[in-house]
Amino acid sequence: MTETRTGTASTIAVEAKDLYKAFGRRPKEIVRKLKDGASRDEVASQGTAAVIDASFQVASGEIFVVMGLSGSGKSTLIRMLNGLLPPTSGTVSIMGTPISGIPAKELREVRKRNVSMVFQHFALLPHRTVLDNAAYGLEVQGVGLAERRERALAIIARVGLAGWEDKLPSELSGGMQQRVGLARALASDTDILLMDEAFSALDPLIRREMQEQLVELQAELGKTIIFITHDLNEAMFLGDRIAVMRDGRIMQVGTPDDILTDPANDYVAQFVQDVDRARVLTAAGVMEPAKAVVSASAGPRAALRVMRDLQTSAAFVVGNGRTLVGVVRDNDVMKQVKRGEADLMSVVVNDVATTNPEAHLSDLFELSVESALPVAVVDDRQRLLGVIPRITLLAALGNVSAVTGEMAVIEPPSTIPVDVITQTLLATADAEEAFATTEGGTR
Ligand SMILES: Nc1ncnc2c1ncn2[C@@H]1O[C@H](COP(=O)(O)OP(=O)(O)OP(=O)(O)O)[C@@H](O)[C@H]1O
Ligand SMILES: [Mg+2]
Repeated sequence: MTETRTGTASTIAVEAKDLYKAFGRRPKEIVRKLKDGASRDEVASQGTAAVIDASFQVASGEIFVVMGLSGSGKSTLIRMLNGLLPPTSGTVSIMGTPISGIPAKELREVRKRNVSMVFQHFALLPHRTVLDNAAYGLEVQGVGLAERRERALAIIARVGLAGWEDKLPSELSGGMQQRVGLARALASDTDILLMDEAFSALDPLIRREMQEQLVELQAELGKTIIFITHDLNEAMFLGDRIAVMRDGRIMQVGTPDDILTDPANDYVAQFVQDVDRARVLTAAGVMEPAKAVVSASAGPRAALRVMRDLQTSAAFVVGNGRTLVGVVRDNDVMKQVKRGEADLMSVVVNDVATTNPEAHLSDLFELSVESALPVAVVDDRQRLLGVIPRITLLAALGNVSAVTGEMAVIEPPSTIPVDVITQTLLATADAEEAFATTEGGTR
């Protein structure tokens, strides 16, 4: 079971097990040598070891990206996943059923029903209209004319091509042609979509738009997508998980966060060093535990002690189940304590900037600049999961580990000297309470 973008645990849609593909006169022999420990270079005189010992599982509803330089074996790998190429060794299973070695007729059925593919160069039928191109997969499936038309029209609208149904591919821009390719794959209504460099021919702005649209469509339609690219930023933006390939081998499989923050080897580390980290790293990936936190029911004195001990000027206030209520400032709480008031809620303010755990750091700059306090990360039930101080944001972008002492966790530091707070607490209660440390009691 794997967690997907939508957060639901799910079944395995595609599984590759010990996959090898060699090209040459005696591919089996090449693979036998590889299995005996020969390197790719050592078998090069006999042929090309295009994919070497690849194993992975793709969960249903996941966007799984395969990334690597030209010639690393990406296309060979994806063609084995839908049976266009038979593996030299190893097995591919689709929805739990092995497809390696099954009769050609059955394989065609699998491709019709379960797996569709979007290619880099659109592969549209030039003499057919946009509508007929989009409906092509349905036609192959044997769906009747009226239903095909209806389903294709709906999908054409979804990819933003409403009104273009009767045009020929040659009348469309590259970006629009790519949308037709996508519409055709989506209209077939297969659960699994294979996309080989599907956006590579598009110019950067349209490409970005298509990436965003794909993520949206995936969230709505719940498809399983295997997406191939040699573009790192694209891989990082789209992938729930990414497989990094080099010379036929998978070097690492992990979430974009994993690959950025914990690369498996120097190759992967070098490969990802130029990535646009702000667009990849998520709030959940960089947040820190919130330390200056008090419970709404704990009262002003407890809040003041927390701020004194952590030397912060503010504290987050949480209610039942750690739901974020707001923040209190040391000056306000100090006044409350002096007046002997007991209700912390009366000084709680709501000016704390919040974000969700999936937000990318690029979405946090503005929040962070506008807010004196760290940005609070809350889940969909407003529970406080962690905080992102500015220093953490900068450190994550610069790929350095921040010195995250408690001072960094909430800012700016208190303007009231510790002694003054202690004396105020002393003057208003017994000594034992004033000196009691907040450790353990407040979180
Ligand atoms: N049909 C074939 N016959 C012989 N060699 C092949 C064949 N297909 C691929 N190869 C070789 O296998 C290796 C991997 O090729 P593949 O097309 O899978 O790479 P890729 O990662 O998709 O590259 P690109 O980013 O350029 O598309 C290359 O060395 C290629 O020359
Ligand atoms: Mg390729």
